[in-house]
Amino acid sequence: VRAQVDRALQACVVDVADYPQEGVMFKDITPLLADHDAFTAVVTALASAGRDEAGDVIIDKVVGMEARGFILAAPVALALGAGFVPVRKAGKLPRETHAVSYALEYGEATLEIHRDAVAPGERVLLVDDVLATGGTIAATRELVESCGGSVHAVAVLMELSFLPGRETNPGLPVTALGTV
Ligand code: PRP
Repeated sequence: VRAQVDRALQACVVDVADYPQEGVMFKDITPLLADHDAFTAVVTALASAGRDEAGDVIIDKVVGMEARGFILAAPVALALGAGFVPVRKAGKLPRETHAVSYALEYGEATLEIHRDAVAPGERVLLVDDVLATGGTIAATRELVESCGGSVHAVAVLMELSFLPGRETNPGLPVTALGTV
């Protein structure tokens, strides 16, 4: 799987300069999603963050963050036999929510979770495409904890090593399939 994942990240993630703003190098994962073998390899690798060394599933829910996090987190949840929970941008969830505002690599945003989406005591795996400043993960961790759950681990496709994503989330084990 490791070799397949490396190949998927090298061949199927396209760098787009100056998108969505000048100076930002955007990582376009849509070619990876369109390639069945590449997509399968990364979902399998991300899901391993929700298992112990014996291969047993040790989480109850997989949380994905809008929008690209949804695409990866939902199949990871199915692979683990766990439920999927969406964390959405402000105003998108119809029932009672917890909300947290945070700074992005570019701009600012508010994220929300349904109050009953994670039950007290549940263990959660966070899945997203990119770990950059770590603000999205930190805000999502706060949301999960507001529900009474705990974040057991984080799994991302890529981490940007020139940004302090891990430092922003001390004590949280981060699995990154690739480093930029
Ligand atoms: C991107 C990316 C991560 C987040 C990482 O999402 O998908 O969720 O930024 O950045 P951070 O570590 O600095 O918080 P974005 O907010 O652009 O949303 P999108 O998936 O809807 O494009």
